[in-house]
Amino acid sequence: MVETRRPGPRGGTAAIARAAAAPLDMSEDAWIEVIRRMDDIYADLVRYQVDLEEKNAALEEAQRFIDSVLASMSDVLVVADVQGRIQRANKAMVNLLGRTEADLVGTELSALFAVSAGPAIANFPDHIRTGDILDCEIEILAAGGEAVPLAVNCSPRYDSEGTLSGMVVTGRPLGELRRAYRDLQETHKQLKTAQQQLVQSEKMASLGRLVAGVAHELNNPISFVFGNMHTLQRYGERLQDYLRLVQRGAPPDVLAQAREQNRIDRILADLGPLIAGSLEGAERVSDIVQNLRRFATPQRQKRRGFDLCRLVESSLAWVSKAARQPVQILRDMPDELPVHNSEGHVQQILINLIQNAFDAMEGQEQPRLDLCVRTADGRAIVQVRDHGPGISDDNLLRVFDPFFTTKPVGKGTGLGLYISYGLATDQCAGALAVRNHPDGGAEFTLELPMEAAHG
Ligand SMILES: Nc1ncnc2c1ncn2[C@@H]1O[C@H](COP(=O)(O)OP(=O)(O)OP(=O)(O)O)[C@@H](O)[C@H]1O
Ligand SMILES: [Mg+2]
Repeated sequence: MVETRRPGPRGGTAAIARAAAAPLDMSEDAWIEVIRRMDDIYADLVRYQVDLEEKNAALEEAQRFIDSVLASMSDVLVVADVQGRIQRANKAMVNLLGRTEADLVGTELSALFAVSAGPAIANFPDHIRTGDILDCEIEILAAGGEAVPLAVNCSPRYDSEGTLSGMVVTGRPLGELRRAYRDLQETHKQLKTAQQQLVQSEKMASLGRLVAGVAHELNNPISFVFGNMHTLQRYGERLQDYLRLVQRGAPPDVLAQAREQNRIDRILADLGPLIAGSLEGAERVSDIVQNLRRFATPQRQKRRGFDLCRLVESSLAWVSKAARQPVQILRDMPDELPVHNSEGHVQQILINLIQNAFDAMEGQEQPRLDLCVRTADGRAIVQVRDHGPGISDDNLLRVFDPFFTTKPVGKGTGLGLYISYGLATDQCAGALAVRNHPDGGAEFTLELPMEAAHG
């Protein structure tokens, strides 16, 4: 702080009085000149004084500002000279060490740190001549004598002439960070375990649903075949009884009576439909097994050219055949759109999408399906949009997951869209996306290349 004393207002008058006591032979003009010069000097003095006071106030303000910044820093800061003797330390450092700043000033920087940090600190004065020292981790001896790890940076400090005058060391205690990191790791581990358990139980539940679905699907044709087989067994016994009589050469009236009793004519008439029904049931079982196999290992199909519009129509016809109620269809498609792809896979996707749309609108008064086929950016696009309830935001993210279904057991396995997505992206080099149409209903968009790049 610069100390100043302002001359009193009567200083100038005193000077005049002294001047008045000077030799008497000076002329009056000379006296006036002396008095004027003295007044000028006095005015200059006052000006210098005011300047000085202003600068002093600014300096004090700057000093207070620097002090407040240093005191507010949560990171520790030490300023040292080129030899590593401490010149200043901020409040965070003082608090961490449990010593006063005055106590620290003049001591060796290296004395603050743990023994393990000794070599690193001893090198600071040499290192700062070549540039900054960034993010080295060293331990400082805190108030209780415990070693606290710090992430330390050290920068050279230059005076107003650009000469190296020392260094500024800043550091951030790593204890809190480390603890937070350890907690985070622990929470992450727990989350991962919980997630694995969830996935595992979801897998088991999904498997259960799949098995239940498959069992339900297989149950119908198998019971049908079983029933037929039991009937055929009974028919076979009666036929054998009758044939035994024929072989023994029984008289015609006995044969006629046996034929009547065993209802041989009815059996013969029943045989055809019974066998046909059993075959149909066996075929249904075989279809289900084939589908499951196809699901487990999707086969790569040969690609060839076909008309996408015709395929959309035939897929629609397949689904409509089994539909319980008529659905109004609005078409927005060209007469034909030739593409080159795996026809079977594309049809499987389309049937899944249309079937889902029909399912979503089941029971609705005026079910309506919009089918749009077009091209965009050299890709063929099929949009299947229903006017059903749409899909909730949560479910929108899950519809392509395996086994995700909102349908009752036996009605849906939740594999339709999962398989379709895999077929669209992997087998057909296309894409499949879903959204809720702004005017209601779900809209699925299948995108296919017009010309397959491979396959
Ligand atoms: N058009 C749609 N409108 C509303 N929800 C739909 C629509 N399409 C699919 N979803 C929802 O997505 C779920 C999954 O569909 P996905 O086709 O994968 O399985 P699924 O139809 O339930 O059974 P699967 O097709 O295996 O017989 C459906 O259960 C349904 O909740
Ligand atoms: Mg489905």
